[in-house]
Amino acid sequence: MSQVSYDASSRTYLLSTPATSYALRIGVDDVPQHVHWGVPLTLAQASALPVYDGLTSSFASTGGEELAVEGGARFGVPSLLVRYADGTRGVEWVHEGHEIRDDRLRVRLRDRHYPLACTLEYAVHADSDIIERSLTLRHTDGQGEPVEILRCDAAAWSVPAASGVRLSHTVGQWSGETQLRRAEAPYAETVFTSRRGLSGHYANPWVMVDAGDADEEHGAVWSMALAWSGSWRITAHRDHTGGPFTVTGGAGHDGLSWRLRPGETHNTPVFAGQFSTRGFGGTSRAWHAYIVRHVLPRPDELRPVLYNSWEATGWDVTLEGQRALAEKAAALGVELFVVDDGWFGGRTSDHAGLGDWHPNPERFPQGLGPLVEAVRGHGMKFGLWVEPEMTNPDSELYRAHPDWVLHMPHRRRTELRNQLVLNFARTDVTEWAYKWLDQLVSAHAIDFLKWDMNRALTEASWPGDPDAERLWSDHVRGVYTVLDRLRQAHPSLRIEGCAGGGGRADLGMLRYTDQTWISDNTDADDRITIQHGYSQLYPARTMDAWVTDSPNPFTRRTTPLSYRFHVAMTGALGIGGDLSRWTGPELAEARALLTLYKDIRPVVQQGEQYRLPDAVQYMSGDRVVVVAWGADRSLRLSGLDATAVYADDATGTEYAAATLLTHGLPLHLPKGDKPSTVVRLTRL
Ligand code: DGJ
Repeated sequence: MSQVSYDASSRTYLLSTPATSYALRIGVDDVPQHVHWGVPLTLAQASALPVYDGLTSSFASTGGEELAVEGGARFGVPSLLVRYADGTRGVEWVHEGHEIRDDRLRVRLRDRHYPLACTLEYAVHADSDIIERSLTLRHTDGQGEPVEILRCDAAAWSVPAASGVRLSHTVGQWSGETQLRRAEAPYAETVFTSRRGLSGHYANPWVMVDAGDADEEHGAVWSMALAWSGSWRITAHRDHTGGPFTVTGGAGHDGLSWRLRPGETHNTPVFAGQFSTRGFGGTSRAWHAYIVRHVLPRPDELRPVLYNSWEATGWDVTLEGQRALAEKAAALGVELFVVDDGWFGGRTSDHAGLGDWHPNPERFPQGLGPLVEAVRGHGMKFGLWVEPEMTNPDSELYRAHPDWVLHMPHRRRTELRNQLVLNFARTDVTEWAYKWLDQLVSAHAIDFLKWDMNRALTEASWPGDPDAERLWSDHVRGVYTVLDRLRQAHPSLRIEGCAGGGGRADLGMLRYTDQTWISDNTDADDRITIQHGYSQLYPARTMDAWVTDSPNPFTRRTTPLSYRFHVAMTGALGIGGDLSRWTGPELAEARALLTLYKDIRPVVQQGEQYRLPDAVQYMSGDRVVVVAWGADRSLRLSGLDATAVYADDATGTEYAAATLLTHGLPLHLPKGDKPSTVVRLTRL
C-alpha cells in the first residue's frame, strides 16, 4: 500500500508510517503549510483539519510553514533566505505540481517571478517512523544572473503547540562529548549550531521535543536529526501566541552565503524527523533501527574487537613495539589490530608529517609489510590511522603545495594542533587523497582505516574562487566522495569515523563509516555519561569503546579492570591500554572478559537497547543482556514479554518476566570499588 496519498480538493498530502501520520497542505497563495505530525490519521481526517494561520495575522511571528521563507508578513525564522541579482529578496510561491511514488513525495514549487524552483522532498519507509526530508533548489534560467543563497535549510518541522515545551539535546567539548541536556524551551529562538566546518564536539546535530511529560519509556516525543558532517544550524522557536513549536535546520552557519549558478541544482542533506509515543527510549530505539536499516553501509556485520595503539604508544610507533603489542592483543582474543598516529612521514610528534603518507623509513625500514605480516600471523586483521584532510606546515606535501590549504589573502594561516586543513572542495586535492589511500589500502589489503580529523576550519577560503564560501559544504562533500570511492574500490575495507574523539559523529558520516570513535576520554566513569548521550540517537554497534589503563592517562582516576571492561562492553569493545604493562593476572582477567564480550556481542551490537538507571539492557530474540554498575539493588527490566520466563545463563536461576519488570532482577554486585556486572538471561 502506498505510504503517500493526496486529496486534490483540499490540496492535502498525507504521509503514513507504521505508527504515525504527517500531513501538509498547499494553502492560500500556494504556501506549503503544515497540517499534522502525530498519531495515524486517514487522508479524509487530515484533509478536514485546519492549518495554523499565522501568515494572515500581523502579530503572529510564525506561520507553521513546511519551509518558511522571507516575504510578505513573515517575521519568524526563515528556512530559506535568497537574494536575486536586482536586490529583491524572498520567495512568492507557485505550486507547480507533485510526484508521488509509494514511499516518496516531491512537491514542486517555484518563485512567481524569479528563476528559482524548489522541490520539497519527503521519503518514508515501510519499517520505520522516521521521515526523511530535504530540499532541491534549482536555478531555472540557463543564462541569467546567479541567485545568492543566504540560508538553505533542509526542512522546517512543526510540533503541535502545548502548554509545556521541553528540549533535549547534547552539549560537549573535546573529551567530554554528548552530554545530554533536557530543559524547558524559552519563549525565544534557540540556535544549536557548529561554525567549525565539522558537526562538532560542542553540540550534536539533533534535538528532541516533548511537552515536559515524557520519560524514558512513555510519552510523546518529536525528534529531528540532520545527516550532515560540516557546519550546521538548527533553530527552534517557541511562540507565545499559540503557534506551533518550529524547528528548522540544515547545513551551514550564520553569515555564510553562496551563489546558485544559472542552470544549477543544489540538494541539501537530509533533516529527518520522528514522532513517537514511546518516550525517549522508544525514540532512540527507532533511530537506532532506522540507522541500521537505512544509513549504515554494513549494518549486519558484528564489529570486531579491536586493539588501538594510541594510548599505549602515542607517536612512539616502532615495528618492534607494535609487534609486541600485537602479540599480547592476539593472546587476549583481539580480532583487529589498529596502528594509530605516528607510522608515517616525519610524524614523531604533532609538529610534522601530516600529508606524507608513506611509512616512516627509520621506524619501518622495510615498509609496513613486516608488521602487517606479524599481525595477520596472529590471526588478526590490520588497520591503520589516517588524517587525510590535514597537513603540517612541516611536511613534504605542504612544501610542494602551500596553495592546497584553506587560506585567505592577507590573513595568517591559523594553525591548530600545528596543522592546516587541506581544501577538499578542490578536485585535485581529493584526487590526490583518493590515490594515496587507494594505493595504501591496496598495497597491504588493509582491512580497516581510522579516518581522523583533528581541527576546525579557519580562513576557509580559496583565493581566486569567486564563490569561495561554497567550500564550507563542498569540503564535506569532498570527504564523502573520497570515502565512498574507497569503499566502492575496496568492498572489504571498514572505516571508523573520528575527529579528535567525537567531533564528527553524525548521520552523515555513518553513511560512509562502520563505527565512530566517540571521545578521546576513555575513563569509564566519564564514558558512561558520554555513551548515554551518544545512545540517544546512535546504535551501540557504531560506538567504539576501549578499555585502557588505570589510573586513566587523561583523568588519573583508578578503576577496576572489570568495571572498565563492563562499561566498554556496552558498545563495540576495543582495547586501548598499554598491554606491555598489564600484569599476568590482569591479562588473564582481560582474556576472560573478552570471551564474555564475544558471547554477548550479538545481543549488544544487534539487539534493542534499553537505558536503565545505572545500567543498559539489550534484547535480541530469546536473549537479554544487562550491564549494570553503581549500588547493589534489584533492577527493573524493560520491554520484556510479561508472560515469559527467563533463566540466568550463569546460575540457572529462573525469573518470571512479570517479576523482572515489576520487582526487578537482583544484581548481586560484587563488593568493593566501582562494582559492576554483566547478567545474561535466556528465555525458556
Ligand atoms: C585524535 C583521536 O581521537 C585519537 O584517538 C588519536 O587517533 C589521535 N587523534 C592521534 O593523533
